[in-house]
Amino acid sequence: MKIVLLGYMASGKSAIGSVLANKLKIQFMDLDAYIEEKEQLSIATIFEKKGEIYFRKIEGDYLLELLNLKKDIVLSVGGGTPCYGRNMKLIETNSISFYLKASIQTIFERLQSNKSQRPLVASIDKENLKEYIAKHLFERVAFYEKAKHTILVDKKNIFEIVNEIKRLL
Ligand code: S3P
Repeated sequence: MKIVLLGYMASGKSAIGSVLANKLKIQFMDLDAYIEEKEQLSIATIFEKKGEIYFRKIEGDYLLELLNLKKDIVLSVGGGTPCYGRNMKLIETNSISFYLKASIQTIFERLQSNKSQRPLVASIDKENLKEYIAKHLFERVAFYEKAKHTILVDKKNIFEIVNEIKRLL
């Protein structure tokens, strides 16, 4: 069984994924962490030195690699992963997927204090951040909504969310 958690930046994919995997006693993997380990570079450095097009190419390659592993995993993917190439098709056909749906306000609050390592938003001022998120999310939501299940994450703690996911498995 492969469980994929997807959603916008700062929707809690990695934190929720590691608690969920722990509860299910299967391995947790994070696509960004896997890319960093394989490339021996941080995501921010890959964007800076090699560019976003290169990042999207290897992101798709490593996603395929992880979905082809012969073991059960909980996998959290990057905010953009479902929106490029055939990634969402691969996720749909090879996993049970969950869209962790956070509101613009929640994402805005979380990203304000947590955007320096995220190259797409690192240089956006606080005054423009909310508008950026709203537009960007609007472009991406059609991909996210292809997930098998949607979990609303606003105002819930990690354990409530994990239990909700477990009930749907
Ligand atoms: C991205 C999200 C990031 C990371 C990269 C690009 C995106 O992952 O993959 O910075 O396009 O939304 P998180 O969603 O874990 O921040």
